[in-house]
Amino acid sequence: MATVKLRQILEGRRSRPQQLIEVLLDIQESNGYISRPVMEAVSEGLGVPLIEVFRVASFYKAFRFKPIGRYALTLCMGTACHVRSSRLLLDQAIQQLGIEPGEVTPDGLFSIELVNCLGACAIGPIVKLNGVIHHHMTPGKLRKLIDSIRQRETGGNPNA
Ligand code: FES
Repeated sequence: MATVKLRQILEGRRSRPQQLIEVLLDIQESNGYISRPVMEAVSEGLGVPLIEVFRVASFYKAFRFKPIGRYALTLCMGTACHVRSSRLLLDQAIQQLGIEPGEVTPDGLFSIELVNCLGACAIGPIVKLNGVIHHHMTPGKLRKLIDSIRQRETGGNPNA
């Protein structure tokens, strides 16, 4: 994470430990994840022990410790989506991208994350792509979605 951006996020919050969660949320929104060096900088900046920064960051499922892809797929595995075959969507994503949940494709384009509910149960199964909800998903729709992104990003060359 760029030092300047981190400095901006910490600006006005130095020595204010009660700002810890907000700071971590801002960092994740800006950077996509929270790295160890960033946690050390937050610890120093807010005057919070590093162990406490790590404890808070690891307590909330919303925080990530690894980078995500430029196209972050979030697949809902909650009950309502599960009964509508969300497992098939996961199988499609794994097969098409060659990665497991929590991983990023070698080109950095895609990542897969799983969640237990995205609050849109009635229109599931749900796949979220960079924050945009795709409802009533099927493996075929997901395949086309991933293919269209790949084509756009590689200029039509799937081996690029
Ligand atoms: S279970 Fe998938 S959106 Fe609620």
